[in-house]
Amino acid sequence: MTVNDRQILVTSALPYANGPIHIGHLVEYIQTDIWARFQRLRGHRCIYVCADDAHGTPIMLRAEREGVSPDALIARMAEDHQRDFADFGIHFDSYYSTHSPENKTLAGLIYERLQAGGHIATRTIRQAFDEKKGMFLPDRFVRGGCPRCGAPDQYGDSCEACGATYSPTELVNPVSALSGDPPVERETEHFFVKLGDFEPMLRQWTRAGHVQDEIAHKLDEWFTAGLQDWDISRDAPYFGFPIPGQKDKYFYVWLDAPIGYMASFMNLCARREDLDFEAFWGPDSEAELYHFIGKDIAYFHTLFWPAQLHAGGFRLPTAVFCHGFLTVDGLKMSKSRGTFISARNYLDHLGPEYLRYYFAAKLGAGIDDIDLSLADFVQRVNADLVGKLVNIASRCAGFIHRLGGGKLSGALSEPELYARFLGRGEEVVAPAFEGREYGRAIREVMALADVANQYIDEKKPWVMAKETGREAEVQAVCTMGLNLFRVLMTYLKPVLPATAARAEAFLDAGPLDWRAIGEPLTGRAIKPFEPLLTRIDMDKVEQMVEDAKEPEAAPAPTGPLVEDPIGAEIAFQDFAKVDLRVARIEAASLVEGADKLLRLTLDIGGETRNVFAGIRGAYNPQDLEGRLTVMVANLAPRKMRFGVSEGMVLAAGPGGADLWILSPDEGAEPGMRIK
Ligand code: MSP
Ligand code: ZN
Repeated sequence: MTVNDRQILVTSALPYANGPIHIGHLVEYIQTDIWARFQRLRGHRCIYVCADDAHGTPIMLRAEREGVSPDALIARMAEDHQRDFADFGIHFDSYYSTHSPENKTLAGLIYERLQAGGHIATRTIRQAFDEKKGMFLPDRFVRGGCPRCGAPDQYGDSCEACGATYSPTELVNPVSALSGDPPVERETEHFFVKLGDFEPMLRQWTRAGHVQDEIAHKLDEWFTAGLQDWDISRDAPYFGFPIPGQKDKYFYVWLDAPIGYMASFMNLCARREDLDFEAFWGPDSEAELYHFIGKDIAYFHTLFWPAQLHAGGFRLPTAVFCHGFLTVDGLKMSKSRGTFISARNYLDHLGPEYLRYYFAAKLGAGIDDIDLSLADFVQRVNADLVGKLVNIASRCAGFIHRLGGGKLSGALSEPELYARFLGRGEEVVAPAFEGREYGRAIREVMALADVANQYIDEKKPWVMAKETGREAEVQAVCTMGLNLFRVLMTYLKPVLPATAARAEAFLDAGPLDWRAIGEPLTGRAIKPFEPLLTRIDMDKVEQMVEDAKEPEAAPAPTGPLVEDPIGAEIAFQDFAKVDLRVARIEAASLVEGADKLLRLTLDIGGETRNVFAGIRGAYNPQDLEGRLTVMVANLAPRKMRFGVSEGMVLAAGPGGADLWILSPDEGAEPGMRIK
């Protein structure tokens, strides 16, 4: 292998600039970073670029809600994201933004070439329009009853109760999530990419080994279903790039998002003389180009994106690598369970390399979901990293200083053992990293760590150390141990860059380099040993989860109307529609299978209501019986897993145990209306 014999460009998906990085995202950035670091450690040139995905309606609305400009919002997010990534040891050669001049130029260029090739169609469509806000509504911003099962308050594109998919025009009593008003339908002209034009090219490309088998199968289904034209325009107001030559039309965020990979690289080229844009993106590029993405965005990266590149006259990706989704303790990440853990919250409690190691241990080349089991996380990191890996060094270092004058022996006493470690590195560890089978790489390294520890156990340097005249033997065993440790630490350097840096300082022989381990460390001095990693304390993990907990929209058992309420003012007439009543809690009981809910039987003056309230964490059912409280009596009944909820009890507080139901003063009677 010669230096720079491969020219590699890798990307991770561009995170949206409307929220913080969380541990789900980190699966991907850690996966990509390990791969890029592995390539560099093997002597290849590997450039890793990314950017914030800064456009789209949610970002525009969030900025509006916060009373800042979209530019200010995305600038703040870009800073937060980059701080999080840096603190997780994720190294980008370029981290840019899709809201950049390079991206604008490149998006315009690709659009122009699509158009010149006759691949753009225009069509008038009908879309929901919010007259109060003066804007067209994306499907997700229209809510209403599910046309199939009748569940109230569903998104405009799919029902969370029955899984039906439909268009917002089919909703029963639809309302805009922005203003709460029923939307009207309006006609508007949209631009489409005729994806079908690229079908032969796409069929060929997707079957030529550029995507994983699972994705290739999925693609077959998509081809069979037929490729639909892709709607790439949005009407003003929108935060994005205006479509050249059009009035009040913008590129849909997903048109310019992947082009952001090119833009980020282009910006890097402007800063680095040794990089040439064409050499990586030109149609004849011999460089390798890999996109790491989550399986939710495979369609964009394996159909739309190759079509855009092809029409634009650029090269196609060498491969698109999809990964699965992160679950925590077997379940989807959840704010109420405290498992929707932000990168920052994690870092406030735990070291980044623990998570890098755990994800690596769990990652394979496929698209299966990966589970972060919190107990297993603690156990595994402690057992593997502290108990096995670091243990090798800590057992040996002291003797080198005490009996060997701080110097390693002049030669290795067991060259075959050393050679075996090198052989396994080439035969198993390196191919596993290359093939994204990180779990396999980790298993092999840990099996070798066991071998190293067994070797030390058998030699018992601590026994020899008590006998005079055996200093050289002790030194030889510990020199062996430290050399084996050095090899393993080199293999793990892509996963544990900071730990590796501490090991480098201790071994005092320059950066650990895969190409240099053929030569063992002998006859040289080492520095005093400092603990490389400490054990994880389960308390820290519990604290982190506690800090991540957000109440389930307090007393409403069913969640808020709008996931992200817009904080709009409401008119008095709207408020007057809410029928608030004094209610007596006649009965209260636990709900099997719902650890946050209590079932309440409420008397509102001759009429009883069954209500599921999310106050289990704050009250014991028996303490509630007989008490007066306040309820919303005219909330549409809602079918839940346990029965129908016929209203809502009012409570205040952050949630969990800190929640207080409202109670009227003495003298109030069940059924009284609150005005
Ligand atoms: N902005 C788009 C990507 C544009 S790429 C040209 C996007 N952003 S995202 O912030 O929602 O997601 C960024 C990446 O993180 C995606 O690849 C997504 O699959 C991944 N993940 C987000 N949540 C995840 C988990 N819970 N688990 C694993 N990966 C996850 O999509
Ligand atoms: Zn439904």
